[in-house]
Amino acid sequence: MSGAGRRPVVSGNWKMHLNHFEALQLVQKLSYNLTDADFDAADVTVHPPFTDLRTVQTAIDSDKMKVQLGAQTCHFADKGAFTGEVSPAMLAKLHVQWVIVGHSERRQLFGETDSLVRRKLQAVLDHGMKPIVCVGETLEERELGATATKVEGQVRAALEGCSPEVVAGLVFAYEPIWAIGTGRTATPDDAQTTCALVRRVVGDLAGAGAADAVRVQYGGSVKASNASELLSQPDVDGLLVGGASLDADEYAAIVAAAR
Ligand code: 13P
Repeated sequence: MSGAGRRPVVSGNWKMHLNHFEALQLVQKLSYNLTDADFDAADVTVHPPFTDLRTVQTAIDSDKMKVQLGAQTCHFADKGAFTGEVSPAMLAKLHVQWVIVGHSERRQLFGETDSLVRRKLQAVLDHGMKPIVCVGETLEERELGATATKVEGQVRAALEGCSPEVVAGLVFAYEPIWAIGTGRTATPDDAQTTCALVRRVVGDLAGAGAADAVRVQYGGSVKASNASELLSQPDVDGLLVGGASLDADEYAAIVAAAR
């Protein structure tokens, strides 16, 4: 539990890695590695590629694993002529509980805008799933001193029109783009400063209760060796892990840091 009594949430974003056989092996090994003490202390989610979801869901349901299933993105519509897309209704039917929304790779490589992120967030909520809303600055923005402006703008756009009750239940992930997949982690101070900023903006928009309840993850080159220090920051309520979540031992060690 974080200092403020928020339950940590540790998420593994598998990105475009692992076929469904490999995904099954990973979730089984992970579930074996994690203990009741881990699940008592934190929400633990995994976000496999779409083609692996059914396989991982079947394993989670049949073995009553406490790992929670997540997706990496979705469309905002329930159905329609959107070749190649996957709808939130389809994900909910697969018992997906969490959906990452607005990951920087979606924003940068696939042109997702703030307003698209807002629509996706709403669609995820409308289907009873929980969005993990990603925000973060590029290296250039950081060097220009524009981190706070960028992140504040992304948070405001994502929350437009959301009630304080809805906001209170959200998870944000602060992922500085320069720290993703680079081995360059933000310092615990950097992570704290911007996670606190996210909370402040939430407070501005939705009030102190929502700010107190909202959970903010840090993501970007998280490893077992830096997880504890990041999690010890008062406004860091969890971690969004990429590469290190593909190794069941490493990811279990990261989860254990949330105890
Ligand atoms: P890495 O942990 O591989 O840096 O990825 C972070 C990330 O983008 C998680 O969503």
